[in-house]
Amino acid sequence: MEIVTRTSELHAWVAAAARSGQRIGLVPTMGNLHAGHHSLIDIARARSDVVVASVFVNPTQFGPNEDFTRYPRTPDADMAGLSAHGCDLLFMPAVDVLYPNGSDHAVRVSVPALDNILEGAIRPGHFDGVATVVAKLFNLVRPDLAVFGQKDYQQLLVIRRLAQDMGYPIEIVGAPIVRESNGLAMSSRNQYLTADERKAAGTIHATLQWIGQQLATKSMSIAAVEREASLRLEAAGFVPDYTVVRRAEDLRVAEPGTTSALVALTAARVGSTRLIDNLLLDL
Ligand code: PAF
Repeated sequence: MEIVTRTSELHAWVAAAARSGQRIGLVPTMGNLHAGHHSLIDIARARSDVVVASVFVNPTQFGPNEDFTRYPRTPDADMAGLSAHGCDLLFMPAVDVLYPNGSDHAVRVSVPALDNILEGAIRPGHFDGVATVVAKLFNLVRPDLAVFGQKDYQQLLVIRRLAQDMGYPIEIVGAPIVRESNGLAMSSRNQYLTADERKAAGTIHATLQWIGQQLATKSMSIAAVEREASLRLEAAGFVPDYTVVRRAEDLRVAEPGTTSALVALTAARVGSTRLIDNLLLDL
């Protein structure tokens, strides 16, 4: 695996790959890679000739009181994992490489309608930061396909909309969520959890499954299921920011009686950690 930090090196590498007719797969990450990220590399590996990964903790997607400075950075382990999973090129830029005019004064890309609900309402500006850095990576790498985890479901929709609206000729691939044995969705933020919190966090996935079961038996309305699900999370020690069932396509509120193409999403805090998870429902 080659490692580059400058855009000129990246350009030369991807231009050579494109010239020789290779299909380029891109996996953007913020590092601190776990089995969930490795599965994204495996998917890119299976569907492209060469795999490019980026490791970049993107300052513009963190709010002023969020964990940008304490976000775990583990470059050596990341390199070993990427190389073991067959990544060909790792792009690890410094902040001023991607934001030459400073991250506060960067040109921003925003994706209206999807960026101000749910995660976007709670983390103002977050999806502008994501869309901006992903657009930069798309411009620099010019991949044929790009793989993103479905754990960040709203992010995946934002990126699909970005690619569609801006006309990027890039196939956006959503990768299934990888879970720990108790159902907890893998996340770099899981390491902030204490052993007890980690154990209790299995309740999040269990609650999303419970939502699916209730809606499948049509015993409760969506609104009633959302309320009861929040109470279940609270009983397990979580403070939910939201627990909702929405249309999978655009995260809008579903018409009563809708039974297909729904997604249950939740964000819940425990101690100082905030976890998100979701489950696609086809009832
Ligand atoms: O999902 C992530 O790790 C990040 O939001 C992404 C897509 C790499 C952009 O910084």
